[in-house]
Amino acid sequence: MKRIKTGVGGIDKFTGGFPEGRTLLITGDAGSGKTIFGLQFAYNCCLQNLKTTYITTEEDADDLYIQSSAFDWDIHGCTDQGYLNFIELAKIRAEVTEAEVKIEIESMKGNFAKLLENLPEDTQAVVIDNIGSYTAKLTPYEFRSRLDLLVYELKKRNITALIILDSATSDEFNEIALFSVYGAIKLMKRENPYTGRRERVMDIVKMRSTKTPTQFLTYEINNNGIEINSGINLK
Ligand SMILES: Nc1ncnc2c1ncn2[C@@H]1O[C@H](COP(=O)(O)OP(=O)(O)OP(=O)(O)O)[C@@H](O)[C@H]1O
Ligand SMILES: [Mg+2]
Repeated sequence: MKRIKTGVGGIDKFTGGFPEGRTLLITGDAGSGKTIFGLQFAYNCCLQNLKTTYITTEEDADDLYIQSSAFDWDIHGCTDQGYLNFIELAKIRAEVTEAEVKIEIESMKGNFAKLLENLPEDTQAVVIDNIGSYTAKLTPYEFRSRLDLLVYELKKRNITALIILDSATSDEFNEIALFSVYGAIKLMKRENPYTGRRERVMDIVKMRSTKTPTQFLTYEINNNGIEINSGINLK
């Protein structure tokens, strides 16, 4: 299976990268680094010459450019060369609400596969940040079936996808989502029992057809973005 490098050194080293044409899920608390992970993945897809789309449901592209500028990534270069484009659903939502035409947005609520409608035909990689914005009023059954459909559509188009789901969305939905996807990574903060210091850790919950570490991987956010600093060795 071909792998797509995420640019997160430790993950690429331990897993070889994300399986091509499959959907991975990133979950985590506010401020845990989900968006940074998404941007880093998108940037690294561009470096691998993949046509990449970043669908943002909350922030606008300007904010994401600002966030990216803190890191050693040339996001503007990727856009200029036609590898990266942003779809800003927050803006579309605001405009629609302003015009008091809510029908389209209502019909999109929970219909995740519709998120792909505006995707350029030749898209090879996609980040959806954050699907939690579209879960209101869904029953667990609806959530599961709509997410399954989205994952199915992405696979059919051979798109390598990273879907972000925040932990403000119910625990139940977070649990359900784990089953629909090919792989899942959870980002957390926890207190180190030995040092008493808070640290960032990630759990590679699953990655089908891949050998994954069972330990939590500690990571930091520095100029390169997310970087694993646990010294564990899988081999
Ligand atoms: N340049 C940087 N260097 C180090 N840490 C940073 C840098 N930029 C952001 N951070 C840290 O990363 C956190 C934000 O990361 P990010 O926006 O990816 O979180 P998130 O999980 O997407 O949050 P939300 O759920 O609010 O969208 C900040 O709260 C800050 O602690
Ligand atoms: Mg975010």
